[in-house]
Formats: sequence, C-alpha cells, structure tokens
Amino acid sequence: MLTSYEMATAEIFDEAGIPVLLVGDSAGNNFLGEANTIPVTVDELIPLTRAVSRSVKQALVVADLPFGSYESGPELALATSLRFFKEAGAHAVKLEGAHTESIKKLVSSGIPVMGHIGLTPQSVHQLGGYKVQGRDNPEALISAAKSIEAAGAFAVVLEMVVADLATEITNQLTIPTIGIGSGNGTDAQVLVWNDAFGLTKNPPKFARKYRNLRTELLGGAKEFADDVANGNFPSDLETFR
Ligand code: KIV
Repeated sequence: MLTSYEMATAEIFDEAGIPVLLVGDSAGNNFLGEANTIPVTVDELIPLTRAVSRSVKQALVVADLPFGSYESGPELALATSLRFFKEAGAHAVKLEGAHTESIKKLVSSGIPVMGHIGLTPQSVHQLGGYKVQGRDNPEALISAAKSIEAAGAFAVVLEMVVADLATEITNQLTIPTIGIGSGNGTDAQVLVWNDAFGLTKNPPKFARKYRNLRTELLGGAKEFADDVANGNFPSDLETFR
C-alpha cells in the first residue's frame, strides 16, 4: 500500500500495480502544509479521495477518516464514511484505534474497514510523541488487534510497533496486517509516498527512499528558471508561427 493524495501519483502507482492506495490524513503534513494530521478535515480529504478514485483502474482506494470525524460513535462514523463513498468514490475506510462498535456498524452497512493501531498519529499528544509502540504493554496491542478483527475489519495497519510484537500480532490474526515501521514480519507494508520517493525533507528512519524527487524537481525548476532568464526557453520548436 502507498499513500496518494491526487491524480498523478494515483495513476502512476495504479499502473505500477500497487494494490491499495490510501488517501491518508497524512495529507495534512505531506500535501496541505499542516504540521501533523490533527487539523485535517473531511471536507479537505473528500476532493483528494475523489481525485484518487477517479484515477485508478485496479487499486483499492481507502479513505482515512480524519480526527474528529468518527470518535463520538457509530452513527458519526457511518455518516462520515458514507460521504467518502458517495461523494468521493472510496472503496473502504480506515480509522485509528479499537472503535469496535463503529467498525461493526460500518461493516454491517456494507463499508469495508481497515483498522490502524500502534502509533496512531491522531492521538500523538496522548501517546506523548511519535514513539515506538508495544514495548510496555504488548498485550494491549494484541487485544486491540483481535477486537478489530472480531469487529469485521478486513485488514489492520500496525504503525511503529516493535517488530517481534508486529510479527506476533500477524501470527495471531487471520486478516492481513500492513506494517509501517514495524519490521518485516507483517503481511504487507505501507509507506507515505512522499517519504518513499524523496520529497520529504526529514523522512522517518523506517522509510526507504526509492527515488530522490526533491533533488530532481529542484534541479528541473532551476534549469527552467535559468533557461527563461537566458532566453533559451521557449525555442523555435516550442513556438507557434
Ligand atoms: O495517513 C496515513 O498516511 C496513514 C499511514 C501512515 C498508514 O495512516
């Protein structure tokens, strides 16, 4: 799974055969210029999700429910998820934490749900920072994962969970686990695309950089500016007569 927030990356990742695209609330700090995911709203994520779902041919598009859009209970979770389905063409939703009653409500309403435990960035202040999870109370994470599975989720993201525990959770569940910063014992992996392809200035330690797009774009933008300043762009070939 990779994140995607707009048309070009959705088309490219879909063409590459990435099976699941997540319109994450990480759009906050990777697309919308926020410091973190907390301020992100449903109204902000709807057009991004719509752009992604319109641009894929095969990928499953998962819409992240942003902070404040589901926590008060199943009815709000359903109302928010319906907006992502009807207005944005999402195929599934993801929510953070073991909100089992909401997951049950969504699943019984025909909405596939992806869970997310471990480091749940919407709760960063409660967790005391972006810290590795599962060292102190591994049983709590195992029990959260099991209750999310029992509630009907089709997969669960394990974020920054110590690797042995992530493997143990994977072994105890029948639904797939999708790891991020949780070692290689999970069933699948997810990365924020900006981290994976070198747009993020300070990517997290767990992210591998598959390309260096920041350097590429910086070089290209400088070349364009120089060409215009020197009169080298546009050339005759790029001009209508
Ligand atoms: O919002 C997001 O990008 C996520 C992934 C890190 C799993 O939740």
